[in-house]
Amino acid sequence: MKADSLELAVVVPTFNERANVPILVAALDRALAGRRWEAIFVDDDSPDGTAEAARELGRIDPRVRVIQRIGRRGLSSATIEGMCATAAPHVAVIDGDMQHDETLLPQMLDALQGDAGLDVAIGSRFVEGGGTGEWDRDRVAKSAFATRLSRKILKADLSDPMSGFFMIRSDVVRGIVPHLSAIGFKILLDIMTASARPLKFVELGYVFRTRVEGESKLDHVVAMEYLIALYDRMFGRVVPVRFVMFSGIGALGAGVHFGALWLFYRLFGYSFLTGTIVATLVAMTFNFFLNNALTYRDARLKGWRQLLDGWIGFCIVCSVGAVANVGVAAFLHDVQQQQWAPAALAGIVVAAVWNFALSSRFVWG
Ligand code: GDD
Ligand code: MN
Repeated sequence: MKADSLELAVVVPTFNERANVPILVAALDRALAGRRWEAIFVDDDSPDGTAEAARELGRIDPRVRVIQRIGRRGLSSATIEGMCATAAPHVAVIDGDMQHDETLLPQMLDALQGDAGLDVAIGSRFVEGGGTGEWDRDRVAKSAFATRLSRKILKADLSDPMSGFFMIRSDVVRGIVPHLSAIGFKILLDIMTASARPLKFVELGYVFRTRVEGESKLDHVVAMEYLIALYDRMFGRVVPVRFVMFSGIGALGAGVHFGALWLFYRLFGYSFLTGTIVATLVAMTFNFFLNNALTYRDARLKGWRQLLDGWIGFCIVCSVGAVANVGVAAFLHDVQQQQWAPAALAGIVVAAVWNFALSSRFVWG
């Protein structure tokens, strides 16, 4: 390789980090003096104009590049796209909010360049020289719990699998991309568990800094996504995670149906037929909005037009599913007179698979 060829791409996932962009680029410029690097901001169309802030810098400094994703959200998926968008032989991932210690990057690069057998250099808060900084006890406890859970899928003896700060060989990561779940925040854990062979890694300590500008995006949905990602890694091949969520929400919908029926039939005194029609509509609406917010959160329908079309499509799909449910259950019950419960269950399973398959294609497809 020529002495002055590109050594490193620093991938920076961002969402609403406008104020941090120039601060981070200046910090990278200082930390990586004398190295050939580029920064790739992967921004999910932040309303605060983060992408434009990065483009402004890119116009005067071609080392600063921008991928602006429109209509999509997700830290892991953004990071993956950034890692695949460089000619550099090494890629680092660093948060855009200055909480990670960019002065560790040269050490990470030296480690990878100095040992051809090494795949990943990981910034760790739990080895010599590392720390969680000003975290309160609650955050420390939650992080420790998440780390303990990760041991269920991780074979390697990693002190900080939840770290979002690391450097990896580009060709290695490109080979792993087809096997990544790309859900949520935990891109390093995803990479370490998706690789067919165990990756050789080294951990370097750093102290997690306190955020000065902007705010964290780690919320309850992100915590839920972590559990979804764990499930996906463990059983996703057997029963797809979306089907599990869809069915779980369907079960809740059955509860909603009973509640609405009780209200209209028993409490308000409408006929059983009217009560059932209302309850069915309420339950389908409930299921539609919950699936839109959770099961298909990455392809969420927005705005009244999309929502109305989606809701109508969902009701049509589910109505056909209900007919299939009744048909299958009645048929099996005819064949096996005594066994009413398995017949009912078979009807429910057939309807669930039907509803899932068709709505994933025609409502959120
Ligand atoms: N493109 C994109 N899309 N970027 C995102 C998204 C998204 O949906 N959500 C968050 N980011 C960016 C943020 O703008 C920031 O640059 C970085 O990802 C980290 O997000 P924070 O919201 O600051 O996360 P955190 O500080 O609470 O968590 C970090 O530290 C954890 C350590 O426990 C992350 O690095 C975690 O991955 C890490 O585990
Ligand atoms: Mn942060």
